[in-house]
Amino acid sequence: MKQRIYLVGAGAIAGYHVEAIARLTESGLEQPTVFVTDVNPSALAAFVERYPWVTPAEQLTSMLEEPAGENDIVIVATPPLTHADITCRAFRAGRHVLCEKPLAMNREEAELMLRTAKETGKMLGCCSSRFAGLQITDEVKAKLGHDELGKLYQAQWIQRRKRSRTGIEYQPTSRWFLNRAVSGGGTLMDWGPYDMAGMTEVFEPVKVEVLHAWMSNPVTGHLLEAEITSDVEQHVGALLNFHLADGSAVPVHYERAACCHGEERSLTEIEGTAGALQWDWLCLDGSGELAEYYDEAGEPAEGRSSITNTPLGMMDKPIVYFLQAVAGQVTHAIVNEQAVFNFSILAAIYESIQTGEKRVVTKERA
Ligand SMILES: NC(=O)c1ccc[n+]([C@@H]2O[C@H](COP(=O)([O-])OP(=O)(O)OC[C@H]3O[C@@H](n4cnc5c(N)ncnc54)[C@H](O)[C@@H]3O)[C@@H](O)[C@H]2O)c1
Repeated sequence: MKQRIYLVGAGAIAGYHVEAIARLTESGLEQPTVFVTDVNPSALAAFVERYPWVTPAEQLTSMLEEPAGENDIVIVATPPLTHADITCRAFRAGRHVLCEKPLAMNREEAELMLRTAKETGKMLGCCSSRFAGLQITDEVKAKLGHDELGKLYQAQWIQRRKRSRTGIEYQPTSRWFLNRAVSGGGTLMDWGPYDMAGMTEVFEPVKVEVLHAWMSNPVTGHLLEAEITSDVEQHVGALLNFHLADGSAVPVHYERAACCHGEERSLTEIEGTAGALQWDWLCLDGSGELAEYYDEAGEPAEGRSSITNTPLGMMDKPIVYFLQAVAGQVTHAIVNEQAVFNFSILAAIYESIQTGEKRVVTKERA
């Protein structure tokens, strides 16, 4: 049966999904049949005018009413407040679900989504896989696998931008990003899913502790700031303790800012007793540099290499990987227990900030 893909939400990211689906034919796959729905009729009309080969539906229920095919996929491309409800409805309509990041508003919703996937025999995927499966990450993992750094004792995962707030500097038309009741949070909900995906891909932890966390919303003179009320954080940090399968643990200093007054910084670094690695993890253009630091006869030494990543673009990865996962292939898709685990780490950061207490997240077995 021909692959069918159902898009819920006809906004900015839905356009990227449709273009990624159109590119599937370049990999030799048959063009899927695509449907779309949106609660906003003008957004729906504009979408099908731009992509006339996509079939519009006025409502989710009518879009999913035909009998489900075994591999039908619903992509949830709406604000986070709606993710859990739409995902569970799609599972009950017999479809697999690829949900946009962040997966949910909180841990309870994420767990409900996974439970419903299991009950209906369907797969839950998350679009936080946009930077998964990079060649540079494989190189880092290979070096860790060969114990090239000795005993790991700390890592830093830091991404700081001065003015990059979604809803203000980026995509100012989507103000909901600044409303916690709809978005679930600020830059941690927006970019944290990619950070958690990256960190769990590198370390493959079985348990993560949030030892301490903080967040803030720095003030600027941007004109939009006077017009709108924003109650989400734009700068967040945490000390995370990653427990690995071999019983060891690596403390990770994590920081993410979409707005800050200090300097911009992009640092991904792991240090061990025998050496350190630094690499461009956020490879928006698909390539990056890997730096190795070590000792040579008592003197500091270093080596650098430029790594070109896979030709698969960041916006193509979620659907390509998820199609592979649904077909039972080995893939970098982030699905089921892994998707909920990754989301639960960022939810635990918020919980730790609220309570002032340590939080623990344990990965469930598949
Ligand atoms: N914009 C980006 O660059 C980007 C990148 C990656 C991921 N995302 C994620 O994609 C999701 C959507 O973001 P966006 O930027 O496309 O937002 P957007 O504001 O551009 O579009 C959201 C669309 O969803 C529709 N909608 C809201 N509730 C709905 C419902 N119950 N049923 C059907 N349609 C509904 C809205 O009418 C709107 O057209 C978010 O989770 C976001 O984090 C966005």
